[in-house]
Amino acid sequence: MKNKNILITGGLGFIGSHIADELMDDNHITIIDNLSTGNIKNLKNPENDNLKIVKEDIRNSNLKELTTDIDYIFHLAAMASVPLSVENPIECNDVNVNATVELLKAAADNGVEKIVFSSSSAVYGENRNMPLKETEPLMPTSPYAASKASCELYLKSFHDSYGLNYTALRYFNVFGPKQDKNSQYAAVIPNFISALLEGKQAIIYGDGEQTRDFVYVGDVVRANIAACKSDFNGVVNVASGEKLTINRLYEIVKDTLGSDLEPDYQPERLGDIKHSLADVSGMENIDLKIDSKDFEKQLSETVNWFKTIL
Ligand SMILES: NC(=O)c1ccc[n+]([C@@H]2O[C@H](COP(=O)([O-])OP(=O)(O)OC[C@H]3O[C@@H](n4cnc5c(N)ncnc54)[C@H](O)[C@@H]3O)[C@@H](O)[C@H]2O)c1
Repeated sequence: MKNKNILITGGLGFIGSHIADELMDDNHITIIDNLSTGNIKNLKNPENDNLKIVKEDIRNSNLKELTTDIDYIFHLAAMASVPLSVENPIECNDVNVNATVELLKAAADNGVEKIVFSSSSAVYGENRNMPLKETEPLMPTSPYAASKASCELYLKSFHDSYGLNYTALRYFNVFGPKQDKNSQYAAVIPNFISALLEGKQAIIYGDGEQTRDFVYVGDVVRANIAACKSDFNGVVNVASGEKLTINRLYEIVKDTLGSDLEPDYQPERLGDIKHSLADVSGMENIDLKIDSKDFEKQLSETVNWFKTIL
């Protein structure tokens, strides 16, 4: 992709900053981000001449102006935490749904070529029909998941009503450099790595035999760019299609770090699902393949990055 005008909402966050870094040298990038969880330091080169950063909340910004002359939008800005959405469902709806509808309206009015939306495997919720295919019923169990499911419906309705092209990417468990380890809602991989690097016991909730489908942030970036280039309108799972138990994950992190600390098993958390696994055949629609054999190498790249920020 070259010489395109691209808007990235949430471009200072974990995933958005990786997308911005990848596209910045050859395209004109505008990032809108309120720095609620994002950070300018996430960007490799914040001074790049091709980059403009608008430090605003998407709820209060002039989206009509920001989408003028834009070719593609990567929409990632969101309240991205399930527990936070349970605490603040109204705010979650404002940020995740209302602001998205405003953005879609502005994009449709300005003739934006395509919007790629960051959705989530959380939309499957209680659906246990593994591996989960995009056509499975949505059974969200949190305001966060409901907000992502609503956005997917709005995207389809804007395609049908105004011809706005879209792909919604349902990420499974994303990991990689720049993932936040400090938030109280930090994900399992940053939690394990940072605990062991600090010489502390990592916590495993439940018996550790629950499984997750992990996907590397570099593959999520490739998925966003592939979706943008494709003429596919619809929803695509973004995952490795492999299940890993939390106990096995812990062993890999422990071996990578040469630690001999045993995990601290705590009671299962309310609302945690036992298994999550994607059917990845839908990635063909955007001409994307993710190679799960690279997991241990990707994990050690992640560990190396975490060592640099200690
Ligand atoms: N990380 C994952 O495993 C995962 C899985 C599924 C879906 N997602 C989705 O991917 C997207 C990116 O997630 P992430 O992990 O990079 O999270 P993140 O919190 O690092 O990034 C979100 C970014 O959006 C910004 N933001 C939040 N609210 C905003 C607002 N009102 N106005 C402007 N900017 C705002 C934050 O400052 C941050 O930079 C989110 O939409 C999230 O729901 C992430």
